[in-house]
Amino acid sequence: DILVWKDRAGGNWWLQVGGYNVGYWPSYIFSDLAHSASAIMWGGEIFSPDAGQTSTHMGSGHFPNEGFGKASHIKNIQVVNSSNCLNPPSDVGLITERNNCYNVQTGNYGDWGTYIYYGGPGNNPNCP
Ligand SMILES: *[C@@H]1O[C@H](CO)[C@@H](O)[C@H](O)[C@H]1NC(C)=O
Repeated sequence: DILVWKDRAGGNWWLQVGGYNVGYWPSYIFSDLAHSASAIMWGGEIFSPDAGQTSTHMGSGHFPNEGFGKASHIKNIQVVNSSNCLNPPSDVGLITERNNCYNVQTGNYGDWGTYIYYGGPGNNPNCP
């Protein structure tokens, strides 16, 4: 479990992993995030200096449509509101720059809540 939230008293952004507070980002290092966030992103990111020609895997290296046991996923996606309560995200958009290299799918189902499958192999015959 990964949780990021803003401490209302101190204004710092805290990171909790597996129930343990790992540390925080002091509020003074932020400008746009000083009071709150207006958007939140989950997923993966690959950087290549040669504009996309990389076989670096994102996630497990499998595409989202390969599903559970193959593709990487994030489940129970929730958002902390200004009352420090968790809520399902209200408006989930998907961003992918080269969907033959890496892709993403979202859904909402049972105890998984809002989830995404994401990733891919990078360079492949359809991703030159
Ligand atoms: C935060 O979420 C809780 C639980 O859904 C809700 O009761 C509360 O009104 C929300 N607070 C704000 C400021 O939206």
